[in-house]
Amino acid sequence: MSANGPAFRMAEDAVDPRGVPRFTLDSGKSIPAVGLGTFGSDHVAREVVAKAVLGAASVGYRHFDCASVYGNEAEIGRALEAIVEGGVPREELWITSKLWNDQHGEKDVFPAFMKSLRDLRQDYLDLYLVHWPFPNYHPPGCDVTSRSPEAKPYLHGAFMRTWRKLEELVEKGLVRHIGTSNMTIPKLSLLWRDAKVKPSVNEMELHPHFQQPELFRMVKDHGIVPIGYCPLGSPGRPERDRTQEDTVDLEDPVVVEIARRHGLHPASLCVKWAVQRGQLPIPFSVKRAHYLENLRAVVGDPLSEDEMQALAACDRNCRLIKGQVFLWKDGQSWRDLWDEGGVVTPP
Ligand SMILES: NC(=O)c1ccc[n+]([C@@H]2O[C@H](COP(=O)([O-])OP(=O)(O)OC[C@H]3O[C@@H](n4cnc5c(N)ncnc54)[C@H](OP(=O)(O)O)[C@@H]3O)[C@@H](O)[C@H]2O)c1
Repeated sequence: MSANGPAFRMAEDAVDPRGVPRFTLDSGKSIPAVGLGTFGSDHVAREVVAKAVLGAASVGYRHFDCASVYGNEAEIGRALEAIVEGGVPREELWITSKLWNDQHGEKDVFPAFMKSLRDLRQDYLDLYLVHWPFPNYHPPGCDVTSRSPEAKPYLHGAFMRTWRKLEELVEKGLVRHIGTSNMTIPKLSLLWRDAKVKPSVNEMELHPHFQQPELFRMVKDHGIVPIGYCPLGSPGRPERDRTQEDTVDLEDPVVVEIARRHGLHPASLCVKWAVQRGQLPIPFSVKRAHYLENLRAVVGDPLSEDEMQALAACDRNCRLIKGQVFLWKDGQSWRDLWDEGGVVTPP
């Protein structure tokens, strides 16, 4: 970044953004099939993430997955401004933000959205998500044993009141698409039934060891684009999100072998696989070599049918982001948050 703020120009070794695959949304608009994640997992400074946004745009990224709770939207906003001043038309960028759990109240949605809009230095956003379906406050960076005395289960009526406020943002022209994150089949089915503006995307954990085939299929069947978070199995996730049962995608022998065959790092193979499967990965990286190779991977030769099948068979149903802090009563398992019984877990 220069003394006058960050300077932007395209790098000589950039991937041509016009060559990056795109997915078509229900609106008919298209979204770049890879985005840069911006959650620094509590240990990467906000300025470092903002610098990565600038650097990623210079190597061809046009899609940025932000959220107010990541605590770095103001810094990222300066980088986005520099990217546009540096000659990238705003319409070529895809900017997402998310409503945090303590802002679900009807009076809270608009101010929370406007803060993200201002921090990101935008006139509109391409996508705004409800980050979690639970309206529970917990302090940033808290331990998984932390519980809010105010914690509530998923209550569909309350969720719909929040959703109506997102619909109003669309009607006001402040956001082009709205969507969900961390939903389950029963919750999404209810939303699909009751929404005036349907969710265009569902952001969900997706990596070779956690492929969520039923939810993935349901989302695709409804024309909703699945955005995959932790697409590499989140090797840098905070300690609080690690358990002894967790498996490591990047060390899976099938992932390692197919990556080797294609001359890729296992991480960028995960990105390539994701796009080819039909989900939109948002890998996080602050290292130029890493975010560049992740983008390059999706413009190279496709994986073979056999390779796709071998990778489908790698699924270990290993959820990494279990969401324990959202539990609302004693004696519950984190599995209750994910409606594994096929219906919304009763209060
Ligand atoms: N909606 C939600 O509830 C939710 C939840 C979690 C995450 N997210 C979003 O999803 C994004 C991605 O998830 P994540 O950050 O947890 O996990 P991830 O993208 O699976 O993994 C990121 C880690 O992988 C490393 N990495 C990236 N590219 C690499 C490469 N080519 N070779 C080797 N290492 C590489 C990064 O380190 P280096 O910086 O060293 O490259 C970083 O530690 C987040 O940033 C956030 O935007 C959303």
